Amino acid sequence: MKNIVVLVSGGGTNLQALIDAENSGNIKNGKITCVISSNPDAYALKRAENNNIPTRVIPRKEYSSSVDYSKAILNALNEEKADLIVLAGFMTILDKCVTEAYPYKIINVHPALIPSFCGEGFYGLKVHEAVLDYGVKLSGATIHFVNEKADAGAIILQGTVNVLHDDTPEILQKRIMENVEWKLLPKAVSLFCQDKIDIINGKAFVRE
Ligand code: GAR
Repeated sequence: MKNIVVLVSGGGTNLQALIDAENSGNIKNGKITCVISSNPDAYALKRAENNNIPTRVIPRKEYSSSVDYSKAILNALNEEKADLIVLAGFMTILDKCVTEAYPYKIINVHPALIPSFCGEGFYGLKVHEAVLDYGVKLSGATIHFVNEKADAGAIILQGTVNVLHDDTPEILQKRIMENVEWKLLPKAVSLFCQDKIDIINGKAFVRE
């Protein structure tokens, strides 16, 4: 059974999707053993507490640099004996001291079709605002491994939705969460826990 540590910063609907999947037996060979929040007020913490999942708060505000913050996160991940780390709406880019310690063991959900609308500065609603500004007709979400470059690690799964002419960033965000993120994130986590993701030449391939 793999220890899954989930990192959050906000509402935690992706965390909830993972908890629901685990409770209904859809995370095979994995258990959420800890939730770590960068934000003491994140509603995600409540979701974890409601499900008796241990929590830790490591406030981003208390650290002056990304490197110092990442060292604190790394320490917690080591203490928790994490086998898999899931960034579920985690709004801080981790330094390479974390990504190098856990190669192909950190999974992120990004709310767009990488390599579009991603990288530094593209997070949360900003992503959907940029999508609507550009006028693309398809968007979606990407589940990928995390490496030292923001949103540039190997892609595991992607799913799409149509962008409609009267969408607001909030409406598009909700469509992508409901139709893609909440389904594909638990699926990717379950595949990882069953060792069904192969890495070949830096790319991820799923064995279904
Ligand atoms: C989700 O849409 C997630 O994809 C996005 O933030 C939202 C968090 O929602 N993540 C990023 O933008 C990371 N770059 P949640 O807290 O309800 O899961």
